[in-house]
Amino acid sequence: MYYEIGDGTGHRSAGLKHNPFQALVVPRPIGWISTLSKEGIANLSPFSYFNAISSAPPAVMFTVSSDHMEGGEKDTLRNARETGEFVFNLCTEELAQQMNDSSTMAPRDVDEFEIAGLTKAPSRLVKPSRVAESPVHMECEVIQILKLPLGKNSNSHMIMGRVLSVHIRDDLVSDGRVDTVKVHPMGRLGYYDYNVVTDSVELLRPDWPLKKRG
Ligand SMILES: Cc1cc2nc3c(=O)[nH]c(=O)nc-3n(C[C@H](O)[C@H](O)[C@H](O)COP(=O)(O)O)c2cc1C
Repeated sequence: MYYEIGDGTGHRSAGLKHNPFQALVVPRPIGWISTLSKEGIANLSPFSYFNAISSAPPAVMFTVSSDHMEGGEKDTLRNARETGEFVFNLCTEELAQQMNDSSTMAPRDVDEFEIAGLTKAPSRLVKPSRVAESPVHMECEVIQILKLPLGKNSNSHMIMGRVLSVHIRDDLVSDGRVDTVKVHPMGRLGYYDYNVVTDSVELLRPDWPLKKRG
């Protein structure tokens, strides 16, 4: 099967009812992002166009697409732009429902921590709260917001942030290593599908010259 994107409906010419793009770049980590408006209203939303983009120094990005139902930018983008701060919270299998609930397009003055039944934990270096129930958090400062040059029908913005501090639940650390698999992180597949990280495989980097296999 092959199709060209064209006006965005090219997949239909290949007989696909639904756009498969999101099902092909998988799994995508979920950035569960908390922000605070300049008026002091907390916001929490998941973003699967999210990733780490540098490790030394550590930095992450997420992309906000389309507008808020009340018009204008989604709250997360607006808050990040106006305050320059956000927190990444790790979404685990246990928190899947709350993560999904926090994605509802709530009116601007609604605090998604409350509607998702989550507890706020204070951050140390930034104002947005952390999701207390999440085992990992990163406090971040916005370093750049890039409007993606994808044509006049796009208003996607990539928000890049430098990680200022990291919180890890103590029971995940043993022998100087973090066992994130233990908390079953959630990943995003296509459509309404997700995956859960339940195991890992170790693959050491090869020396040169490569050894013959088999
Ligand atoms: C798993 C998941 C991933 C999502 N990823 C994105 C994303 O990458 N970009 C985006 O704009 N919206 C994404 N959404 C939708 C936002 O979470 C949703 O629009 C949210 O209401 C934004 O609200 P805000 O106005 O509070 O920022 C995702 C939703 C879910 C459930």
